[in-house]
Amino acid sequence: MNGKWLKVPERLAEMKNVHVAVVINLKNAMVPETGEFIMDTNNEDRVKWVYSSKNNSELSERYDEWAKDYDNDLSEFFGWIAPQTAAGYLAKHLDTQSEVLDAGAGTGLVGQALSELGFKNLTAMDLSMGMLKEAESKNVYQKLDQMVLGEFLDYPAGYFDGVISVGVMTNGHAGPRSFDELVRVTKPQGFIVFTLKTDIYFENGFKEKMDEMEKDQMWKVVEMSDEFQPLPIGEPEVLHRVWVYQVLR
Ligand SMILES: C[S@@+](CC[C@H](N)C(=O)[O-])C[C@H]1O[C@@H](n2cnc3c(N)ncnc32)[C@H](O)[C@@H]1O
Repeated sequence: MNGKWLKVPERLAEMKNVHVAVVINLKNAMVPETGEFIMDTNNEDRVKWVYSSKNNSELSERYDEWAKDYDNDLSEFFGWIAPQTAAGYLAKHLDTQSEVLDAGAGTGLVGQALSELGFKNLTAMDLSMGMLKEAESKNVYQKLDQMVLGEFLDYPAGYFDGVISVGVMTNGHAGPRSFDELVRVTKPQGFIVFTLKTDIYFENGFKEKMDEMEKDQMWKVVEMSDEFQPLPIGEPEVLHRVWVYQVLR
């Protein structure tokens, strides 16, 4: 068998004599009789499996399932360095007493990086409860909230000194509309730091939205990093930038 990542639907288990060969050989394949996808142990395929989610509820379920192994996969197989990189940018602009929202906190790698830099007042927000449970176990967040980027965020206007969002503004995850609420919940003169894949910036309406908000004087760009490889081990061809915006109102 393919190991612990294989989620075998109950009906398939009942018919195991018929289907066991299919289960062994396919990666993230659809089971024809049930229409369900099964997850493979192959790490790249796990990422594709998550990214192929059709809606937020499926995305949340898949992250729930991935949560326990996410940290190990990301560090061992991909060398995920974006949390530390983005945290470094936030720390250039905010002092360590600042109230910071980690939007799409996942298992808390960004919170961990900020905590190592001395930040204490951290709130984690994510759509996946499974990921938030992992984040909670790191003991670096004062508060953890299940919410969805792109929808209303249940925080008062101007509540946070800064927002950080790493690996979340991307295909099938949070879209450019998410920025409206992130700006609302950030204090005027506060900072919003996020990572964005360089091609997604041009393809998914991010550039248009970011420019439009600057034209409307909602925020101004303060800093944009050089392109860097956030996944140098597993996907060295992927390039991201860190963007830093200052909220104007
Ligand atoms: C690639 S992980 C990044 C997690 C963490 N920031 C990191 O750097 O390791 C993406 C996270 O965004 C969350 N996410 C995706 N779409 C979201 C949305 N619309 N609202 C809130 N969280 C979302 C997922 O549940 C997942 O935890």
